[in-house]
Amino acid sequence: MNYSPLPILETEHLILRPITMDDAAAIFAYAQDPKVSRFLSWEPSTSIEQVKETIERWLTHYEENRQAPWGIVDKDSNKVIGTIDVRNHDVDHHTAEIGYCLSQGYWGRGLMVEAIKCVLDYLFAETDIFEISAFVRTDNPQSQRVCEKSGMHKDPGGTKQEYIKGAAVDLERWVIRKKSSD
Ligand SMILES: CC(C)(COP(=O)(O)OP(=O)(O)OC[C@H]1O[C@@H](n2cnc3c(N)ncnc32)[C@H](O)[C@@H]1OP(=O)(O)O)[C@@H](O)C(=O)NCCC(=O)NCCS
Repeated sequence: MNYSPLPILETEHLILRPITMDDAAAIFAYAQDPKVSRFLSWEPSTSIEQVKETIERWLTHYEENRQAPWGIVDKDSNKVIGTIDVRNHDVDHHTAEIGYCLSQGYWGRGLMVEAIKCVLDYLFAETDIFEISAFVRTDNPQSQRVCEKSGMHKDPGGTKQEYIKGAAVDLERWVIRKKSSD
C-alpha cells in the first residue's frame, strides 16, 4: 500500500484524495459532532487547532509513506465530508483493515458504501492485498449494514473485545477477499 502519494480515486458522487491543511474547517465541522465519533476511538474535536495538529500528523505520514487517510470529498460542495483509511497492512500475509467516518449531514445516502467499494476495488486491483477486514462494534448496526452493502461478510470466528473510551466493547470482523477474477 502506497501512501506517498496516496492515489486520487473517483466515484459517482465523491473524490477520494489526500487531506490538505485547507480542509481543516470542513473536518472540524463534523469532527466536533459527538454522534460522528460515538463509536470511534477519538473524542469530538474541541478546536480547529486540534484538527490542524491531526492534519499535520497526516501530512508527515503521507511524506513518510505511513498510514494516513483519504479525505472523502463531496463533488457538489467540493468539501471534505469524511475519511476512509487502510490500516494494519500486514505485508507478509497480504491483509489489511479499513476504517471510515462521515459527516452526519451526509448519512443515509449510500455514500460510505460508494467510498468503501471504490477503495476495495483499488486495493484488489493495484496492491497485493487479498483480504480486507473492518472491525465493527456490535452496537453500531448502521456500520454493520454498510459492510454488508459493500459486499463484506461477517466472520463468525472474528469477534474481539477492545477497550474504547474507558469501556470494553465487542467488535465483529467483516471481511472480503479478492476474487480470483479480480
Ligand atoms: C456508519 C456510517 C459510515 C454509515 O454511512 P452512510 O453513508 O450513512 O451509510 P448508508 O447511507 O449506507 O446507510 C446506512 C445503512 O444502515 C441502515 N441503518 C441506519 N441505522 C440503523 C440501525 N439503527 N439499525 C440497522 N440499520 C440501520 C440504513 O437504513 C442504511 O441501510 P439501507 O441502505 O439498507 O437502508 C456513518 O453513519 C458514519 O460515519 N458513522 C460514524 C462513524 C462510524 O460509525 N464509523 C464506522 C466505524 S466501524
